[in-house]
Amino acid sequence: MMNFNIAMIPGDGIGPEVVEQTVLVLEKVGEIYNHKFNFKEALAGGCAIDEYGEPLPKKTIDICKESDAVLLGAIGGPKWDNLPGDRRPERALLGLRKALGLYANIRPAILFDQLKEACPLKPEIIGDGLDICIVRELTGGIYFGEKGRKDTELGQAAFDVEIYSEEEVRRIAKTAFDIARKRNKIVTNVDKANVLESSRLWRSVVEEVATDYPDVTLNHMYVDNASMQLVRNPKQFDVVVTTNMFGDILSDEASMITGSIGMLPSASLGEGNIGMYEPVHGSAPDIAGLDKANPMATILSAAMMLRYSFGLEKEADAIEKAVKKVLDDGYRTMDIINEGKKAVGTKEMGRLIIEALS
Ligand code: NAI
Ligand code: MG
Repeated sequence: MMNFNIAMIPGDGIGPEVVEQTVLVLEKVGEIYNHKFNFKEALAGGCAIDEYGEPLPKKTIDICKESDAVLLGAIGGPKWDNLPGDRRPERALLGLRKALGLYANIRPAILFDQLKEACPLKPEIIGDGLDICIVRELTGGIYFGEKGRKDTELGQAAFDVEIYSEEEVRRIAKTAFDIARKRNKIVTNVDKANVLESSRLWRSVVEEVATDYPDVTLNHMYVDNASMQLVRNPKQFDVVVTTNMFGDILSDEASMITGSIGMLPSASLGEGNIGMYEPVHGSAPDIAGLDKANPMATILSAAMMLRYSFGLEKEADAIEKAVKKVLDDGYRTMDIINEGKKAVGTKEMGRLIIEALS
């Protein structure tokens, strides 16, 4: 029997509801495949502010660092909206990424065949569904570069510096190529090398890394073209690797072509062996506590945890298959409901996925 320690951070709003179902799914997987998942709960976000007066208590960081992976629900809500920037719940996310050295954000944009009606693109563009994986650099670039203001003859001026080192590019490029190897073996590098010096360095380092992956095809695309191609011909993409800011924008664009935010998982990987797994959506205060949230994004994040942090490929496949089975059987939470389908709540959806697993 293999033992895995998981730091569990339910967070705020619908976070605890979707995490609860995900834990039950993981426990079932453990039972079927003979693994032991040990969960240790920790507070972060608004609930941590209420309890400890800060969004990311040291105790939470310690629990995460002592675990093999982190499972997070969602953080934030209107109750804490008026706090100053450095004390807001969202600081916990940045703090965790930093504490765990999570420089790679992996966001698969999957359009399940069963949910094609939810996609705003034409049927001939999506064909039999979409499966794009965006690999976004998470701890460098313009969001972390030098910033400031100065007085000029034209009034105040402000600047944010886009800066990347070779090592920062090399490690994210490797992550992307490693993932492509487990998929369809195509990497599209997205940059703005026709204009930005930082992009020219970025591109040359990606090309250098590519020489270690002769089995993977590398394409380059300027970000403006990429944003167009994502809706014009999304099927050309397998793995997309890009900078922090471009990835922020493109991953939101890609998530919309899949129809519902309630379906989208994510992983953040980094220097150490501890990955963090969370749904793309937020705490959805409008439906919190009503048993309406779709738990699939978090459950699919747990599948990514099994695949990327624990190397449990067939167990991850089993979760993804169970999700598809439940969709095939016509069950839908309210975010993905349409005519002729059976509406279920969060708990019932979790139960159905567990049933489909066994
Ligand atoms: P949101 O993702 O929480 O909600 C957007 C819309 O999608 C809402 O109508 C919500 O009901 C719906 N929705 C989201 N997840 C769903 C699910 N699993 N099932 C069914 N419907 C779902 O984004 P919003 O409203 O912009 O932010 C709400 C709070 O969440 C804010 O405090 C924000 O800062 C925080 N947030 C936290 C994130 C995180 O923890 N990673 C990410 C994004 C926002
Ligand atoms: Mg964003």
